[in-house]
Amino acid sequence: MTKAAYDVVLLPGDGTGPEVVAQARRVLEAAQERHGLALRFQEFPCGALHYKKTGREWEPEAFAACKASDGILLGAVGWPGIDLPDGNIAGYNVLFGLRFGLDLYANVRPTKLYPGVRHAISGQLQSVWKPQNVDLVILRENTEGLYTNAHGALTRGGVTEVAIDNNVITRKGCERVIRKAFELSRRRGRGAPKDGKKRVTSIDKANVLRGSQLFRQVFDEVGQSSYPDVERDYAFVDAYCQWLVRQPEYYDVCVATNMLGDIVTDLASVLQGGMGMAAGGNLGDAHAMFEPIHGSSPKHAGKDSVNPIACILAGQMMLQWIGERYGDDKALAAARTIESAVAAVCAEGKVLTYDLGGTARMSEVGSEIVRKMATV
Ligand SMILES: NC(=O)c1ccc[n+]([C@@H]2O[C@H](COP(=O)([O-])OP(=O)(O)OC[C@H]3O[C@@H](n4cnc5c(N)ncnc54)[C@H](O)[C@@H]3O)[C@@H](O)[C@H]2O)c1
Repeated sequence: MTKAAYDVVLLPGDGTGPEVVAQARRVLEAAQERHGLALRFQEFPCGALHYKKTGREWEPEAFAACKASDGILLGAVGWPGIDLPDGNIAGYNVLFGLRFGLDLYANVRPTKLYPGVRHAISGQLQSVWKPQNVDLVILRENTEGLYTNAHGALTRGGVTEVAIDNNVITRKGCERVIRKAFELSRRRGRGAPKDGKKRVTSIDKANVLRGSQLFRQVFDEVGQSSYPDVERDYAFVDAYCQWLVRQPEYYDVCVATNMLGDIVTDLASVLQGGMGMAAGGNLGDAHAMFEPIHGSSPKHAGKDSVNPIACILAGQMMLQWIGERYGDDKALAAARTIESAVAAVCAEGKVLTYDLGGTARMSEVGSEIVRKMATV
């Protein structure tokens, strides 16, 4: 059922995080005005610089507000040289506190190349891939694998001699993210650009790793029993990296365990124009958090220079999620408007940041997207 107003928590974080979140907020405000939506924003400081100032990575009321919210938008956390006593980066407990604390088990990362966007390779902007060939989504398991707390180190006489990270893979963890991948392929409906087939690819290392063997087994069980209309496809992660670059058009939806997904999605971002264009959603059954996949980009912080589109598209994904969750057509229409405006600005190519070959400030790109929203 739709709600009269949706509670949105903004967590700007460190470095360029607050700058890109401010642009995303402008765009969300313009979208709500145009479509008669009501978003109630709450903003909380968090991250490494907040930790340095207060001794806390975020305030207790911030997590409570996230838990009660309809959507969360995070900028980025982390700053060089500010670490926690346990060795993790300061800000770690914001990101992982949300992923684990709200059980956001599926990290969904669309890789879509908008017409007009070129990719920087060897310092040159190039058009290697055609926009019609790059339209896939990678889902990454978000709550287990190598990122669980099942790790440790052996230190003798002040020297760390052994470090162990355990790759924890469970049937439950596999099943729920794999199910989300098949559901997404069905919902997208358009299949892979190459042949229009609805296809889910298991990215794993089942030739070596036990955890990957369980992942594949569950992948087959779920696919066979519940999604016979969706093709099942398999790739070892090393081979996947070269296939992704050589023929992205073959892929529709791909699914991976935590660490493998983390790595391949950064590679995939190159196909869509780089970190400034790549957004992700961390989805659970009851909560969701959205973020650009980039970090706090310290060397660019405070310069109004980085690309805000990744964060704006994260906001767009949040509206899409709210629209689907509550059956709210206005939220879905607002999400479509934002995406169309981003696509139009990229296609025109006049107001773009440095990473896409432009000379515009970040805030000018934000303004241009807001302007375009009135016309698309
Ligand atoms: N989810 C998160 O909050 C997150 C993710 C990654 C890194 N981090 C943290 O961020 C800090 C910096 O990490 P890093 O330098 O490895 O990664 P980063 O993503 O901040 O920067 C890497 C490079 O990506 C490019 N880039 C990043 N954001 C961009 C944007 N909006 N537009 C255009 N180009 C952009 C820049 O060229 C930058 O040099 C570290 O403390 C790290 O731990 C946080």
